[in-house]
Amino acid sequence: MPDTNKTNRLVSNALIFNEKDELMVVKRAEKSGNGLLGVPGDKVEPGETPAEALIREVREETGLDVISYAFFDRVNFEAIGMDVTVYIADTTGSIKLNPRECESYDFISVDLLDIEKFYNPEPALVKALFEKISFYLKCKNELKNLTRKKNIFFTDRGNTSIRLALMLAKNMGKTKVIIQDQGGWLTYEQYPEKLGFELIRMKTDHGLILFDVLKRLIDKDYVLLMNSMPGYITLQNDLDEIQDICTKKGALLINDVSGSIGEDVAKYGSIILGSFGRWKPVNIEYGGFIAFDSNEHKKFVSENFDKEVIPFYKDLYGKLLELDNRREFFTKTNAKIKADLNEMDIIHKESPGINVIIRYSEDLEKERLINYCTKNNYEHTECPRYIRVLDNAISIEVKRI
Ligand SMILES: Cc1ncc(COP(=O)(O)O)c(C=O)c1O
Repeated sequence: MPDTNKTNRLVSNALIFNEKDELMVVKRAEKSGNGLLGVPGDKVEPGETPAEALIREVREETGLDVISYAFFDRVNFEAIGMDVTVYIADTTGSIKLNPRECESYDFISVDLLDIEKFYNPEPALVKALFEKISFYLKCKNELKNLTRKKNIFFTDRGNTSIRLALMLAKNMGKTKVIIQDQGGWLTYEQYPEKLGFELIRMKTDHGLILFDVLKRLIDKDYVLLMNSMPGYITLQNDLDEIQDICTKKGALLINDVSGSIGEDVAKYGSIILGSFGRWKPVNIEYGGFIAFDSNEHKKFVSENFDKEVIPFYKDLYGKLLELDNRREFFTKTNAKIKADLNEMDIIHKESPGINVIIRYSEDLEKERLINYCTKNNYEHTECPRYIRVLDNAISIEVKRI
């Protein structure tokens, strides 16, 4: 009979990387750790949270100070009754090993680690953990390329990233949030007010931001929270100039790239975020990210986000590798629909997009459009709708194909 009263021993471990993405590996002292390899971290003391233990253990074992951290994974070694919470930790200071605990250290590429030499209570679990770490690094680097940002932080969903971005803006002293009057996302309308911002809906050309309107409105107290593929129908191709306007006025640009990821426009903004949810170009039905250059932002996010994001990196990396194909498929389908309905009133007809939105002026036209969707097995949604356009129109949801 298993002893049901026995509680597992809690341990916190730190994944500390150098600038080459090599992992800090310590050789445990013969006496306390049989000379095996491991990563910094040890037991959670009574009354401590796993995160507090992480900070204390890293300092005790390595002399480094943890400045920010993020949950990475939880590994449950049933056989020896040990629950390990694994964090990614950013540290400062210089390494000064505690000789009672660690003999030596090294930074090693995760793909070259010999896990046979690791403290390894259940080889399959340790192997799986290192595989996740390897895919995490690949995803992080791919997203760095896609956004041109230094820091990538994974979240449980796009909405969480939006909330975090707005919290960062609040922390920077911003008081007003401008959103597109159409083509945005539901939480752009909800979160700013919940967080105590004044919300301004800016007139756009069916989601596309107009420079003159923006210039007249924006100032240093403002955040521009924008969808760079408004309504999933067109790209805001002149984002470099929008970024310029924001920078000159001292305003903060938050760019939601859920629809535009993989395009050049996804590289602009002080804060870039996106969703990997269902029907997005990168679709793992879960998760999102937030990206920025500032290390201050990184610390703030680490202190204000404590959800345990599922380590989805293997799936995500697969989808990131498929992104170009997925986008090509969208472009082709979008062009086919536009050709089929060429004589109708297509919004942003000449621009590349995913969805196709067609305006109608009478019921007969509307019926014709719905029949076209049914015949081709395309899902559609009826407008006016804030997240698409505010006209009488049918949005053909190519992104759902
Ligand atoms: C443009 C855009 N941003 C953010 C989100 C929210 O993402 P999530 O569902 O992952 O919270 C969505 C969801 O559809 C979206 O379309």
